[in-house]
Amino acid sequence: MITRHLVDRQKLNEFHPFTRLRDLLEATPPGRSPLDDGQPINLSIGEPQTQPPTFVAHEISQAATGWSRYPLSKGTPDYLSACGQWLEKRYSLPKDMVDPTKHILGVPGTREGLFMTALTILPTPKQGEETPIFLTPNPCYHVYTGAAAAAGAEVVTVNATRESGYLPDYTQVPEEILKRTALCVLCSPSNPEGAVADPQRIRDLIDLARKYDFVVAFDECYAEIYTDTPPHSAFEIAADLGGDLSNILIFHSLSKRSSAAGLRCGFIAGDEKWISMINTTCQVGGAGVPLPIQAAGTRLWQDEEHVVENRARYQQNFKLAQEILGNTIPVEIPAGGFCLWLEVGNGVQATRNLWQQAGIRVMPGAYMSHKDETGTTPGDRYIRLALVYDVDYMAIALKAIKEVLGQTIAVGGLATGITPSLTNKKPKGDNA
Ligand SMILES: Cc1ncc(COP(=O)(O)O)c(C=O)c1O
Repeated sequence: MITRHLVDRQKLNEFHPFTRLRDLLEATPPGRSPLDDGQPINLSIGEPQTQPPTFVAHEISQAATGWSRYPLSKGTPDYLSACGQWLEKRYSLPKDMVDPTKHILGVPGTREGLFMTALTILPTPKQGEETPIFLTPNPCYHVYTGAAAAAGAEVVTVNATRESGYLPDYTQVPEEILKRTALCVLCSPSNPEGAVADPQRIRDLIDLARKYDFVVAFDECYAEIYTDTPPHSAFEIAADLGGDLSNILIFHSLSKRSSAAGLRCGFIAGDEKWISMINTTCQVGGAGVPLPIQAAGTRLWQDEEHVVENRARYQQNFKLAQEILGNTIPVEIPAGGFCLWLEVGNGVQATRNLWQQAGIRVMPGAYMSHKDETGTTPGDRYIRLALVYDVDYMAIALKAIKEVLGQTIAVGGLATGITPSLTNKKPKGDNA
């Protein structure tokens, strides 16, 4: 379903998921959690709780003289080159397809990168004086809509549901909307569902973008966290199409890959014209990535060992979730990412129950979604659990979740809306 939204940039808190979650739980004291100290367990945020490799601290201290200097907004040659080499190796790209000096821009994270991109691309009206359109999946990472609203664009959401493989089908968007579209996002692996786009879906979107002259922001920040098969990048498809990067931007960071959300280190790569213009926006209003952080980031992009370990831990966590929850609640192990998108009937009620009874904080799917034309959201029936702790901790949390949600289901029966036939079915996504 395709829905148009006018989002007021002064009311971003109305759809900011963490503000809404705070408001929901504020008045309710948390139950005692199953941890030894009874303290709350936070599974509401996609923030890896394991530490990045110890060499990060060493690299930062070695580069400490850089604290006194303003960083170049684009990134140091070493940092840009490490990002370029990583892309080339990870996606088997032809040599010379990516020139780090032209096609890569260092940014503190994909969040800042996406925001600066929207501010740069969206203010330009397409089709005469009409407000440009920003196309986004629904549900989605809230920063997409926030950035579009801040840039004064009209937001058009395309529902991502079980039926659509948990990804938006942009080929169904009417032509009059595509003509006004200036920017579109595809997140793969997606947040919150963990669905992975196959090469055909990516190629169709690139074709559409080139036909209607809009830019696609491919949010690939979960690219390194996958269950079986490494997700494809838009750059691989661009390479197959001859290597042209026009209309394509990809977004990566070390936050998920290297468990370094606090480092604030990532990059955007793609269309040379837009990389240069986004760089100008960052020069005017961005903070840049401090030089010692870029030194650590350079080393992290060059190291794969810690990434393999991280990925294995998330794979174990998913297996555990299936073992523990599987007989009680339908568990669909996603193709990528580290979140479980769990269908529980009433996501807001389940969130309240988990908090009140077991001190476990999760994110209601509705808070990551926008109302469509039916007046409901595609996330209403879901909660998102970020499985971001080590396996032992996750086992404790998941057992408590089973207990609370199992009781709800037993008491409410089908009133919860859970269809028993869905139990343990895999998603129909491109990787199903
Ligand atoms: C889909 C998605 N994109 C981007 C981000 C931003 O991450 P960062 O700015 O740390 O790279 C997040 C963080 O949760 C996310 O889930």
